[in-house]
Amino acid sequence: MLNITYFGHAAFLLETGGVKILVDPFLKGNPLSPVTPDDVEGDYILVTHGHGDHLGDTVEIALRTGALAISNAEICGWLREKGVRTHALHIGGGHSFPFGYVKMTQALHGSSLPDGSYGGNPGGFLLNLSDGSNYYFAGDTGLFGDMRLIGEEGLDAAVLPIGDNYTMGPKDALKAVQFLHPKIVIPIHYDTFDVIQQDVEAWKTLVESETDANVLAMQPGENADI
Ligand code: NI
Ligand code: MN
Repeated sequence: MLNITYFGHAAFLLETGGVKILVDPFLKGNPLSPVTPDDVEGDYILVTHGHGDHLGDTVEIALRTGALAISNAEICGWLREKGVRTHALHIGGGHSFPFGYVKMTQALHGSSLPDGSYGGNPGGFLLNLSDGSNYYFAGDTGLFGDMRLIGEEGLDAAVLPIGDNYTMGPKDALKAVQFLHPKIVIPIHYDTFDVIQQDVEAWKTLVESETDANVLAMQPGENADI
């Protein structure tokens, strides 16, 4: 089981067994975030890719809290130059941390860092927690057929972008749910900016009529056990 708090866009705080894991902590520039970088604590920070709306305030938070950043090798190298502790993964590879196994998955997207540095390939994360529960954070991605393979893990929840324009839109995200067949799906990466405005209630109705998944459309600041 995972206790999850949403900060809007793609940013989360996950808590499991007393461990705090931030995901894509874009807080300061995030118009939906109810918290600032100073408000959050983290033992780990998962960074899916280098874009500013995902890397976010990783450096500031990691330097204050001592959190270990987990990302691809290129982003980890860039973070280490700024004094951040890191653990580098790459696509298809995973590592056992005290809270569970984290595997980096592919994503169809870009990954340049805010200063224009090369950020390697973008990714997502598959978390296999010590209690046997499985969670998939897709990151920014278009739809890809190998989501079917990720679905074979037996997902308790999948966190998927639905905003369109930069990532999957509502139609492809429905197909992603059909490939992944998670128990719960949490839509992200919508309504932050005008170009990714979506009717999330309509998408929830559609997905729940076409699949067995329950859609948990979290409000920024909302907390849930999944
Ligand atoms: Ni991006
Ligand atoms: Mn993004």
